[in-house]
Order: sequence, then C-alpha cells, then structure tokens
Amino acid sequence: MYGRRMLKPLRRVVRRLMERTGLIGPYYRWLERRSARGLGDEADDGRPMPPAELVVLVSGPSRIWFSERGRSDAAMFADLAARHGVDVAAGIGVLDFGCGAGRIARWLAPAVIAAGGRFHGSDLNPKLAGWCAANLPGAYATNGLQPPLALGDGAVDLVYAHSVLTHLTEATARAWLAEIARVLRPGGLALLTFHDEAYAAAWGPPDVAPRLAAEGYVVWNQALEGSNYMSAWTATARLAALAAAGFDVAEMIPGGVDEPSQAVAVLRTRT
Ligand SMILES: C[S@@+](CC[C@H](N)C(=O)[O-])C[C@H]1O[C@@H](n2cnc3c(N)ncnc32)[C@H](O)[C@@H]1O
Repeated sequence: MYGRRMLKPLRRVVRRLMERTGLIGPYYRWLERRSARGLGDEADDGRPMPPAELVVLVSGPSRIWFSERGRSDAAMFADLAARHGVDVAAGIGVLDFGCGAGRIARWLAPAVIAAGGRFHGSDLNPKLAGWCAANLPGAYATNGLQPPLALGDGAVDLVYAHSVLTHLTEATARAWLAEIARVLRPGGLALLTFHDEAYAAAWGPPDVAPRLAAEGYVVWNQALEGSNYMSAWTATARLAALAAAGFDVAEMIPGGVDEPSQAVAVLRTRT
C-alpha cells in the first residue's frame, strides 16, 4: 500500500519529464502499437474494417466495440439531427470532423450518398483519413491541428464530431468552432461531443471534476494535442461561450452517468 502510494507521484514526475523532453511522443506511439498487438476480437458487420493499428487510435482494443458503437453513434447523430430538422437522407452535405478510422462514417456515409447527398470526412492523422479515402464512400481529407478545412463557406448542412474537442486545448477548440461555423450554411447544424461536468464526475480522473467546476476548461496531460494522450474537459457554459461567436445553442445533452457517453452540444449557425 505504502509502495503504491509512493509510485503514483513518481509516475507523474516521470510523465511530466517525458512531456518536457519530447520523449512522450515515441513512448505513446509504442503504447499504441502494443495495444494494437493485443486486439484479439473480430467483428464481421459487412463493412470495411480498418487494420488493428488504426482501430486502437480511436477506440481502444476492441473491433466489436468499434463496430457496434460506431453503428449506435451514427444512429444517435442521425436521430439528433432529425430532431432538430436536418434529415441525413434528404440529399444534404455532411462533414464528419475528426473522422478517425471511419467508425461512424462506415454507417452514415453510404446512407447520405445513397440519398443523393455529399459526405465529407476530415482528420488530423493522414493514415486515418487515407484509410477512409481508400475504403469508404465519400471525400476524405487531412487537415492541420489548426484550421482551415478544405471546404468552402456554407458548403455543408450538418457537421458532427465525436470525441474531437475532447483532445484540444481551449484556444484550438475556439478556432475549430469558428471554422465549423464557416463551412456550415446559415441555419446549419453542428453536433459536437465533449467531456462535460456529468461525464467528468462519473468517468474522469478524480481531480478533474473539482478543477472543471473551478476553471471551466481543463486540459489533462499537456502534450500531444489532438491525440488521445491529451484529454480536454469543458464545462457546458464554457462550451456555449466558446461557440457564441458563430452559433446559437439549440440543446446541450449531458454526458452519460450510467454508461460513458460524451455530452453533445447541438449548435445552429445563425441565418
Ligand atoms: C478519439 S478519436 C475519435 C475518432 C472518430 N471521431 C470516432 O468517434 O471514432 C479523435 C480523432 O480526432 C482527430 N483529431 C484530433 N485533433 C484534430 C484536429 N485538430 N483536426 C481534425 N481531427 C483531429 C484524431 O486524429 C482522431 O482521429
């Protein structure tokens, strides 16, 4: 017990040292490769399945979770959009921002395109965007950590982003909220997940919830922005304030307490 108590602060010091010296990057990539080697399960859902080293970048070590949760998250976004007057099966333009390995696009892109719509995906990681471009219907591109996107003003009706704001500093999140507003048509909808107070209290590291209450925006692990190593936690009111320049808040859905589903900000660009 005494040993474990000593180990925790020691680990923290080593981690901070690795962050400062830049060693955290190679170390974290090594952890990801190790995690990919441990990906033991299979999921045959009739859709292209990315290789293990890409699955672990977005969902931890389970193809079944990648498949099942991808399908249910796609349905969640489609239902939420419909509730706010945007039908993904009505020939519209959709952007999956931070599309990862197409976990959600595998389900939504075929439906959007079959209905005569346009489907775009964009991601910071060229391997992820590249796999989507080679294997899924739709147009996929790589973007930088900071805006812009390769899309014109008002190009799409709907943008969704699952677990992307959750890996950005506050300044970067603010810049992306403005960019997402730019590529949406007036009256367009953004569905953006984030780690809110409810999610922090139920699933966050113990220190995060009180810090979030006091600070409004908490970055956990100050390195490798955009990767899963850095996690960001945003009070609901702070997210609304960050989005205020380009959006009205249509709805804020709190994070799940019984199961780990992230909060969703439903935002509408002004007409
Ligand atoms: C946890 S993964 C989620 C991926 C996907 N949205 C999903 O739900 O499966 C976070 C994704 O956001 C991407 N990402 C992080 N920062 C980004 C940025 N500034 N622009 C675009 N993508 C970004 C990462 O490369 C990664 O694919």
